[in-house]
Order: sequence, then structure tokens, then C-alpha cells
Amino acid sequence: MRIGIYIGSLAACLCLLPRTGAAGSTGEAGIEKRIDKLLARMTLEEKIGQLSQPVYVRDDQELLTRIEQGLVGSLCVTESQIFTPAQRNEIQRIAVEKSRLGIPLLFGFDVVHGFSTIFPTPLGLSASWDEEAARETAAVAASEARSYGIDMTFSPMVDVSRDPRWGRISECYGEDVLLNTRFGVAAVRGYQGENLTSPTSIGSCVKHFVGYGMSLGGRDKQFTEISRRSLLETYLPPFEACVRAGAVSVMTAFNDIAGIPASANPFTLRTMLKERWRFDGFTLSDWDAVVELMNHGVAGDEAAAAERAVTAGVDVEMRSATYRNLVRSVKEGRVNIRTIDDAVRRVLRIKFRLGLFDRPYVDEAVAMASQLTPEHRAVARRTAAESMVLLKNNGVLPLSPDMKLSSLTGPFASNRDLLGWWTGHGRQSDVVTVAEGIRQGKPASMTVVEGSAARQSVRTTVICIGESGATFGESHNLTDVTLSRSQIEMVREAKAGGSRVVVVLFNGRPLVLTPIMDYADAILVAWHPGVEAGNAVADVLFGRVNPCGKLTSSWPKDSGQIPIYYSDRTSGRPRENRYLNVDGQPLFPFGFGLSYTQFRYGDLRLSSPSVGPQETLTVRVDVTNAGTCDGKEIVQLYVHDRVASVTRPRKQLKDFKKVFIPKGKTVTVEFRLPADELALLDADCRQVVEPGEFDLWVGTNSHDLLHTVFEVK
Ligand code: GLC
Repeated sequence: MRIGIYIGSLAACLCLLPRTGAAGSTGEAGIEKRIDKLLARMTLEEKIGQLSQPVYVRDDQELLTRIEQGLVGSLCVTESQIFTPAQRNEIQRIAVEKSRLGIPLLFGFDVVHGFSTIFPTPLGLSASWDEEAARETAAVAASEARSYGIDMTFSPMVDVSRDPRWGRISECYGEDVLLNTRFGVAAVRGYQGENLTSPTSIGSCVKHFVGYGMSLGGRDKQFTEISRRSLLETYLPPFEACVRAGAVSVMTAFNDIAGIPASANPFTLRTMLKERWRFDGFTLSDWDAVVELMNHGVAGDEAAAAERAVTAGVDVEMRSATYRNLVRSVKEGRVNIRTIDDAVRRVLRIKFRLGLFDRPYVDEAVAMASQLTPEHRAVARRTAAESMVLLKNNGVLPLSPDMKLSSLTGPFASNRDLLGWWTGHGRQSDVVTVAEGIRQGKPASMTVVEGSAARQSVRTTVICIGESGATFGESHNLTDVTLSRSQIEMVREAKAGGSRVVVVLFNGRPLVLTPIMDYADAILVAWHPGVEAGNAVADVLFGRVNPCGKLTSSWPKDSGQIPIYYSDRTSGRPRENRYLNVDGQPLFPFGFGLSYTQFRYGDLRLSSPSVGPQETLTVRVDVTNAGTCDGKEIVQLYVHDRVASVTRPRKQLKDFKKVFIPKGKTVTVEFRLPADELALLDADCRQVVEPGEFDLWVGTNSHDLLHTVFEVK
């Protein structure tokens, strides 16, 4: 027995040792030694090969030949060409067993909100204000994807966006810097876990670096007029946080940042990312972004595009093949070999950290068993319900069991197109529709009539409207984000027919709902909720889940108000911040969302009326659940610097807490606000904490707030 215990202990100890590579090296120092040895053996052509990421196309013999020649470092896998785990192993075997140096390939794929189990789209998930949901869904996606043969995901996307006309606003975590930061970090931690070599971890490639969400007029990939201040205050912080959280890669964006394209920008790529943040992973261009430097007019031919990009700090080129010119660029002295060696070192470092040299193949049986399990579906159902936002409810929700007759209608009632823009390896056939969810989840006493709701006898109509996954996402921009006329008419007719009308909205972006506000008795925003859509909607409609989601974007009254966001500057004449025909307020403000219960805020108090620049202010507020059912409330804390050396946002979200409060109970919510989190960038963009008075608000959204004032000494 004792011997058994001893052997067991010894085995346990050995497992604790850092993984040793083939050459017996261990840990970071060992990895760098292995890279040194490999680099010393590589030809210039093989080095450039590691910086090339072509798109995987099934049966492309020329691609397979280049892999065998050691001229491909990684592959961009796409939804239309995804392979089986067995096919992935075959491709990897060519690189590992047939190429001269046996350097394994890295396989990248857009696992944006799930792999086989598809979760709510990122903008939807952010409405949960639950970082743990972001981590957990990323971890599930990672376990499915890595077992299947995907080593890195092109995610999270943390492009702050304030323009719902832009189809890709659906992919970010909303208009606020803090939420994109917190959710981006949570996603990186979920994807990468504690150990990148684990078969349930994948590398994360945070994107799109940087400022892509400011595309002019909401037109994808257009010019972005971003000041140095906005870059440092708004667009860079989420990326810095993700890099410091350990993201192994950063994807460079398509947009031109005030004259210097993001994929040829030494300030963002070298000064900020690689030098100031000490990023030691690799940068990857977006699809063709390097060759497109010619369209931007900053490169006259492909060789110039390649030289400009790699010198600026773009390590790996996705899809376009301009980097093949770098062999000659180096030989003719236009690109320094040290630039190439640094880029190759970064790629090899991540391949070693992912354990690809030690474990280049996947277990095909494990891969198939890991997909879309009941446990994963349960996570999808829970996070979808937690992401839903109740915008209006005059008491019709939750649907009560004694409701005799309800009708279910609208284009999304039986529609499986609820997986959003990036669908990974998900299938619409796996989606639970609203009709299925309501049919299997309704109280026995309730009769649900599906189809037209014209009959007078129908008392409550549930109308499922919104936008399909083909109307948002990349290059899917709209000049007008108002609901379609036919859908507005559908809601109006139902109301005119005497029904109480419950609107369930399936959307990727914020939409203008003004035209239905007088007709809808309740509005539930469901986003594109993913594979468990119908069950999650039923859970909320029947009250099994009390909705707690809150908007992470401001929803305009009219498309003409765009861009409209809570943290803008007040200007010299705040009262003129409006139009002749529409005021300057959103229809639904940032942070807004209702519950089936009511929360009351009281007794906002501070640990002190003033705080030194190195001290921390403690903020407390009492929140009471004054309603008839338990619920979760997202308590938000905002500040405003009243007088500073530069203009400051009218409000800034500084913290938030999601708390469960049983009916009838009161909880005290406490925030700790270090004074250095009130720092600003002065006129020279230097970070300083300036003394002076600050407004401080705590409340249920960015408009309904308790207010107090404190001073920074
Ligand atoms: C696309 C997208 C990017 C994606 C990449 C690979 O153009 O901009 O988000 O990761 O190509 O699919």
C-alpha cells in the first residue's frame, strides 16, 4: 500500500513539473533556447514561411506542397471550409513529418461566440454585465474548438463602437470602454485558461487593432478620424488590458487611423503594443489587410506593402501573399533580418506555449464527444436568458399560467436563423426555435395558437420580429436602423385587434423602436441568442428567469441621432445638443433594462467627502427589492470631473456590480474607487490625477441615478 502511495505521489509530482518539450527544455527559458536552435537552422524562405497565414482550402494541392516545403506557418480556417479532426491531423502530419524542420502548423478560426455550441452574440452577451458569463462561454468554446483541432481563435473583438449603422457593432461589447475591457479580459481568460497546452485551451487573438469601430458613417473599413487623445482614452485601453491578461496574438485592423493604416502603423504596433505594453506574442493582419495597403495608397506594389507592414510590426500576413517578396527585400537590404527573426521568434514562442511541438495532433474520438453536450447547452440556455433585456412591460409579463389563449406569430417565431453573424461550427438545425421553446416550456393550462393573431378572441399575442443574421456583421451596414415597415405594421395590427402585445426582438445591433412604442405592451430584446434561443425566451416569458440584462449601447429614437452615446462631452451649450425634429436623448439609455420586480436605491454615502490622489474612496448604497419576486440588479457607478485642464466626458462608468436580491430584502452594495482611477490625459496626453470636485452617481442605468459630490485633494 505504502509503495502504491509513494508511486502515486511521485507521479503527482512529475505532473506538476512544467511540461518538458522534445528537447527536454522546460518553461520559458527552455522555450527560448529551443527557438534559438530552430532559428539558427531555418533558411530565410522558411522564416518567411512562418509569417504566412494562407486561408485553408480543401484539396488545394499547391497549399499542401507549400506546407511540405515549410513555407506556411499557420492556416486561417473559414466556416465554409472547416475540416474534420481527421483531416486536420492529415494536414498537420505533412508539416510535422514531411517538412525539413517539422515545425507544426497553427490553425486559427473565428470562434467568436461559440464553436459548436453557439452562445449569444457578443453585444448580446455584454448585456448580461456578467464577466463570468463571458469567461465561461469562452471556456466552453475553447474546449470544443481545441479538441476539434483549432489552436487559436480570432476573438475577442473589443472595438468600442457607437454606431449601430455599422454591422460589426454586434461583435463588440458595446459603447463603453470599461465594459469592452472587462469582457475582453474575461474572454481571454476563458479561451486560454490556466495552461495554454491544455487540450481545452486555445490562444486568443484580440481584434481589430485599432479603432475599427469608428469607421466613418458606420461604413465598414472606412477612414477613422481618431485623435491621439481618443486613441489613448477610448480605443487602446481594452486591447492593453487583453494583452496584459495574456492574449497570445493581436489582429491588425483594416481602417486608416487618421492617415496611417492600422496594418502599417508603427505607433500602435511598435511604440504602444510591443514596447510600452511589452507584448511578446505575434501580430496578425486581418484578411488581405497587407495587400490592401496599396488601395490605401501607402504602397505602390506588393513588395512595398509587405515591407511597410512587417517593418511597422505586422508579424504574420493573413490570406494575401505579399510576404513572399520579403526574401528579396531582406537580400537587397530594405528589410532588416532582425525584423524577420523577431517576428518568427514570436510565432514560434506561441506555438511552443500552445504545446504544438509536443502535441501536434488531436484525438478524433475526444473531438466528436466534446461538441454540443447537454452541459454546454445548459450554459447556452442560461447565458442567453441572462443577456435578454426587458425594455417595456406594462404588466403583461411574465405570461401567467391561467392565460387562456395566446398567439405566437412573427417572422422569427419558428425561425432557426438565431445564431448571429459568426456561426463557427454551429448549425441552424441545432437551434431551438421560439415556437419549440414555448410549446415545450409553457404551463399546461395555456393554449398557444401559432400563426396570424387577427382573431378577436386572442388575448395576448407574442410577436417575434427583428433582423436576420444576414443583415448585420461584416460589411452589412445600414443607413437606417429602424424596424422594417412590415414589422411595425404587424405590431400595430395586433394591437388594433385588441390583443395585449408582447414583442420579442431578435437583433444584432441597437434598433430604432420608436414606431412600436405605442403599440407594444412589452418589449424583450433577445439579440441573436444562439442554439438555446427558444428555451431561453420561454424561460423569461414564463417567469422562470427574471430578466436582468441591461443595454451596453444607447438606443436612438431616430437613426439621425447616430452617433449617440452616454459618455460624450457636454459642449459649451448642452441645451443645443438636439435637432429641430428630435431631441438629444436616446429612446433607451446606456445601462437601461427592466426587471419583473422593482429595485429602490437609497442612502448613497461616501467614506469621506474628499480623497487624496493616492487614496481610495469607498462608496455604499442600499438597494431594496421592493417587488414580488427575487431578482438580479446591475448597480452602476458613474463619475464626472467638474473642472479639469481638458474637457471630460459628461459621465464615465467606473464600476458595476451585479447583485442577487431576494424579494423584500435590502442589500448594501459597496464600491472601492481608487483616486488614481480618476486620472485623465492632460493637454500633452500625459496621465495625471488633478485635484477638484467630482460628481458621483450610483443607480440602475446611466439616467436614473442617486447623486453626490466628492473632492480629490
Ligand atoms: C475577416 C474579419 C476578421 C476575421 C478574419 C478571418 O475579414 O475582419 O474579424 O477574424 O477575416 O475570418
